[in-house]
Amino acid sequence: MRYNLLRFDNLPSTNTYLKENSENLPDMTAVTADFQTNGRGRMGNTWIADRGCLALSLLIKRSIKPTGLTLLCAVATARAIKQLCGEAVGIKWTNDIILADCKVCGILCEGKLYGDNSGYEYIICGIGLNVNQSREFFVNSSLPNAASLYTITGRKYDKEQAARLILDNISELLECDGEYVLKEYISLCITLGKRVRLIQNGNEIFARAVSVDNDGALICENDSGGLFRVTAGEVKLRAENGDYI
Ligand code: BTN
Repeated sequence: MRYNLLRFDNLPSTNTYLKENSENLPDMTAVTADFQTNGRGRMGNTWIADRGCLALSLLIKRSIKPTGLTLLCAVATARAIKQLCGEAVGIKWTNDIILADCKVCGILCEGKLYGDNSGYEYIICGIGLNVNQSREFFVNSSLPNAASLYTITGRKYDKEQAARLILDNISELLECDGEYVLKEYISLCITLGKRVRLIQNGNEIFARAVSVDNDGALICENDSGGLFRVTAGEVKLRAENGDYI
C-alpha cells in the first residue's frame, strides 16, 4: 500500500494542513514540514519543536477504528526508530514513544465522523519525532522529560529517511490483522505491569496497569484488586529515577 509524500519547508501544522485539504487529497497522503509554526499536541497542548523535529502527518480515508490506528502508528514508529538508529524504544500508553526514560515522539490522531455517525470520513495521524534537537533546546523549552534521537545516541539522522521508514511500517501494518498489531503493541508497551498515576478530569488516582484490550483501552487494577478500563486522560509512569513521566 503506497503513500504519496508532500514536503513543505514550513506549515502552521501538518495535521491542520491535511484537515483543511482532506476533501481534495486521497487516502495515504502524507505531509512533512521542516518547521511548524503552530504544532499541536494531545489534550489541546502546543507541540514545541524546532527544525530538529520530524513533523509528519498521514491522511487515512478508509474504514478503520481511530483507537486501532493510534496503536498501529505507535508500533510503526517504534519499528522505524529501531531501523533508523538501532535503539529499542518502549511505548507509554497510549502513544508516547520513550527512550532512556525520555519522550522522543508524540502522536496525535484526529478524525472526522460522517454526519450520520456511521464511521469516519477521515483520520489524520500526526507524528512528532524528536530527531536532531540539541540538549539545549529541551532545557530552554522546559521539557526535562523529552529528548531526541541525537541527544541519546550522539548521531544526527536524515528526517526524510525517518519519515519514509515510519510510513513504510504503517503501510505494512495496515495490511496486518488487528490482533497481530495489538500483540506487538503489548510487547512494546512499558506501561504494563507498572504502577501508574492516572489524571482524569483533575482527579488523580494510582493503580497498576495490567493490559490493553481490543479497543485500545488500558486495563488497570486498583488497590482492592478491582479492574477498570481507562480510555482517556493522562497516564503517568514512574521512571527509574522516581519521576513520573
Ligand atoms: C503529543 O501531544 O504527544 C502529540 C504530539 C503530536 C505532534 C505532531 S507533529 C506533526 C503533527 N502536526 C501537529 O500539529 N501535531 C502532530
